[in-house]
Amino acid sequence: MLLKSDGDVAIAGNVDAALREIAVATPDVVLLDLVMPGRSGLELLEELGQRGVRAPVIVLTATNTVSAAVQAMKHGAADFVTKPFELEALRIKVRNLIEKHDLEREVERLRDEVEERQQLGRMVGRSAAMREIFRAVERIARAEATVLVTGESGTGKELVARAIHDLSPRSAGPFIAVNCGAIPSDLIESELFGHEKGAFTGATDRRIGRIESVNKGTLFLDEIGELEPAVQVKLLRALQERTFERVGSSSSTSVDVRIVAATNRDLVAEVAAGRFREDLYYRVAVVPVKLPPLRDRREDIRLLAQTFLARIHASRSGGGAPAGTGAPKKLSAAALGALEGYRWPGNVRELENAIEYGLAFCDGDTIELKDLPISVGRSGQAEALREQWRQGERSFDETVHRFESEILREALERNQGNQTRTANDLGITRRVLKLKMDKLGIESRGGDEAD
Ligand SMILES: Nc1ncnc2c1ncn2[C@@H]1O[C@H](COP(=O)(O)OP(=O)(O)OP(=O)(O)O)[C@@H](O)[C@H]1O
Ligand SMILES: [Mg+2]
Repeated sequence: MLLKSDGDVAIAGNVDAALREIAVATPDVVLLDLVMPGRSGLELLEELGQRGVRAPVIVLTATNTVSAAVQAMKHGAADFVTKPFELEALRIKVRNLIEKHDLEREVERLRDEVEERQQLGRMVGRSAAMREIFRAVERIARAEATVLVTGESGTGKELVARAIHDLSPRSAGPFIAVNCGAIPSDLIESELFGHEKGAFTGATDRRIGRIESVNKGTLFLDEIGELEPAVQVKLLRALQERTFERVGSSSSTSVDVRIVAATNRDLVAEVAAGRFREDLYYRVAVVPVKLPPLRDRREDIRLLAQTFLARIHASRSGGGAPAGTGAPKKLSAAALGALEGYRWPGNVRELENAIEYGLAFCDGDTIELKDLPISVGRSGQAEALREQWRQGERSFDETVHRFESEILREALERNQGNQTRTANDLGITRRVLKLKMDKLGIESRGGDEAD
C-alpha cells in the first residue's frame, strides 16, 4: 500500500510465489519477510543469488530476530528494517536503494560503452538490447540456475547457450545439444535418459542417455516446447531431484548437470493450451533470456555483416585457399542500406546466408545491391537509396525522384495498373498521376485507358 504510488508492486505470500513473480518481471527492489509459510526468506535470498537477480533486498524482521537479519545481510541482503517500523522511514530506504541500484547499473552501462564491448563469445552486437544480453549472459553463466532462451528462429539462441556454458565453471565439462523437435517421439526418452538392454524391441544393448553423458557439463535442450507430455514428466523429476531412471531400469541414477533450454514457441501460450506442463515451465524458465528479432536492433546489422565478411574471408584464406583471395570484400553503400532496411524474417541466420550469397555473386571487390538475394534487394531499396544519399553518392533531387517513382510503381502494381484506383489510393487526381508518370518516365500499361 505504502509503495503503490511509487511504482508497480507485486505481492507474494511465499517463496515459490515470489520466484514466479520474479520470473515474469525483474524487480528493482525486494522487501522480504524472513518468516513465511514453507521455505524461509533466507532461502529466497539464496535463490535470488543463484538466478543472478541483483535487485537490492530489504529484510523485514521482528526485533527479537535481529541476529537473523544479520545472517541475511551476510547472504547479500542490502539492508534490514525491524518491526514495527516507521512507514516513512521504510519508504525512504526503498527510494535510496533503488536510486543506488540505478546508479550502479548506469555506471556498468557506461563502462561497457567506454570499453565499446561489442562481442561475447562468438556473438557480436552493439545495440543496447544485445549489450544488455551480454551482461546478463555473463552474470547467468556464473550461477547454476536453469536458463530458458527464447527468440525467433535464427536470433542466436544456440550461441547464447554455448556462451553460458563457456563462461561457466562447467566449461571444462561437456556441452551437449539435443534437438527435442528433431528426434522422433518414441526415441526421445531413451535418447535423453538412456535404456537398459532389452527395455524395448530393438534395444539390443544398454545405452547411456545424453543427460548421463553430460555429467558435470551443460545440456542444451533445443526446441523444448516439442517434448511429449510423458517425457516432460520425467524431465521435471530429473530437474527437481537430479535423478532419473534409464528406460527399463528400476534403479535411479543421479547426475550433476546444468540445463539450458531454448524454444521459439510461446511457452506461456503452450502452458495455457495445456500442451506444456506448468510445473515444468517454472522449473525451466528460472532465468529467462529473450533475444529480440534482428529487425528490432538494426544497429547490429552493419557490424554483423562485417563480422561475417571477415569470418568467411578468414576461413577461406586459411588452410591452402586458392591464390588471389586478397583482402576481404566490402559492401557498397546501396547494399549496406538494403541490408539495414530489410525485415529479416529469418534473423541473423538469414543475414549470414545473404552475405554468403552476395560473396558468391560478386565479381569485383565490392558486393553491390544486385549481388544480394532478390528479397533483400527489393524491400531494402528505400533504405539503400537513403544510405547512398547519406554517403553523398546521390543528390537530394535524384533521391527524391527515385523515391517517388518507387512509390508510384508500387501503387500501380498494387492496383494492376489501373490509374483511377491508383490515384485514389495516393489521394491525388488522375491528371496529376499521369503528369508524374510522364515526368518520371513510367509507362502506362495497356488495358488501363478504359477505366
Ligand atoms: N549475435 C550474433 N553474432 C554473430 N553470429 C550470430 C549472432 N546471432 C546469431 N548468429 C549466427 O546466426 C546463426 C543462427 O544462430 P543460432 O543457431 O544460435 O540461432 P537459433 O536462435 O538457435 O535459431 P533456430 O531457432 O532456428 O534454431 C548461427 O550461424 C549463428 O552463428
Ligand atoms: Mg537453434
